[in-house]
Amino acid sequence: MTMQAEEIKKIYGGYSGAYDFIFKGFFYPRIKHAIETMHIKPGDRILDVGVGTGLSLPLFPSYCIVTGIDLSSAMLKEAHKKIESNGLKHVTLLEMDAQNLAFEDDSFDHVISTHVVSVVPDPVKAIAEMKRVCKRNGNIILVNHFQSSNKVIAKFDTLISPFTKKVGWRTDLSLERLIKDTNLDVRSQYKMNKIDLWKVVCAINNKGNGVSG
Ligand SMILES: C[S@@+](CC[C@H](N)C(=O)[O-])C[C@H]1O[C@@H](n2cnc3c(N)ncnc32)[C@H](O)[C@@H]1O
Repeated sequence: MTMQAEEIKKIYGGYSGAYDFIFKGFFYPRIKHAIETMHIKPGDRILDVGVGTGLSLPLFPSYCIVTGIDLSSAMLKEAHKKIESNGLKHVTLLEMDAQNLAFEDDSFDHVISTHVVSVVPDPVKAIAEMKRVCKRNGNIILVNHFQSSNKVIAKFDTLISPFTKKVGWRTDLSLERLIKDTNLDVRSQYKMNKIDLWKVVCAINNKGNGVSG
């Protein structure tokens, strides 16, 4: 395991017990909205990359099959508690690196990853893996904070990023650059309200559509 992965495991291991208390209020409504945009059908296989404490898990319909992966066993332990307390028989959790997913190509109908791409050391690799394991034309939904398009705020995002990295995420990830580097076929990107710090990014898995991916 790389130093960066060890560091991330340590940071999120530290958050795990208090994560829901600190972050649920901010993250839950956006996660709920993101899942609703997926239009999940009965029997669909869903992958949640960086599932964390499993805030998303009770929100998936029970008629789909959900796999959640995360690097941090401590975060997954909290997610397991949600499976038990909510009786979520359609959910499986696995300890795994988003940058090296242990699934066959085309294993899932849709992939979601919330508040994760600015945490993983190599977001381009993580998205390439999401595309590989997701079926052609499946939804790839990302929720994340990205560097602001406002030049002054973007500078601030870059300035504070070395500090926010120490607490678990970077603030200088450019969505425009990420889309270019991953050839992600983004159909919509928006904030749920004007002052929101996080964006919902809805993409279609374009592999095999004559577009390289
Ligand atoms: C901010 S939390 C988001 C958790 C959850 N998706 C949510 O929205 O509440 C980021 C999560 O990404 C996980 N993570 C970071 N790097 C990872 C990697 N390389 N592979 C898998 N999970 C990773 C962390 O362990 C943590 O649980």
